[in-house]
Amino acid sequence: MSYWKWEPAFSVGIAVIDDQHKRIIAYINELGTISIYHDKEKVRTVLLALMDYTVSHLAFEERLMEEAGYPKLEAHKQIHLSFIERIHFFQERYENGEDISKQLMTELQMWLINHIQNDDTDYKEVVQAMLHKKEGQMNDGWLTTLIDKFFK
Ligand SMILES: [Fe+2]
Repeated sequence: MSYWKWEPAFSVGIAVIDDQHKRIIAYINELGTISIYHDKEKVRTVLLALMDYTVSHLAFEERLMEEAGYPKLEAHKQIHLSFIERIHFFQERYENGEDISKQLMTELQMWLINHIQNDDTDYKEVVQAMLHKKEGQMNDGWLTTLIDKFFK
């Protein structure tokens, strides 16, 4: 897989979500780069970080949708759940000694593009409105606290 560049077309219009999607893309690219050198320990570190970060990102997204009162939260959670199960399946295969890097990268890329452009765009307006409201209430700290909670 060649180097994957984030494009403005991937933006969901919410900076904090875009940043996390960019981070996932960066992990995928890193995995692609180090896979060439067959350094098993490095691959392991990035692979586990990528899977862990992706799962945290999905949980973070759900918390935002919940706070915003997004009406299709349950449906979106189901989509996340089936993807998390998929990631766990990759994790299991990896622990059993299978080389899953390439397949994981390809699948994650396809999933992310599709998810951003369809499912995530759907919650855009309600989540944006919720975040603007927090800002208006001078409650910007809410988002920072939430990021710390999910990513530390
Ligand atoms: Fe999502």
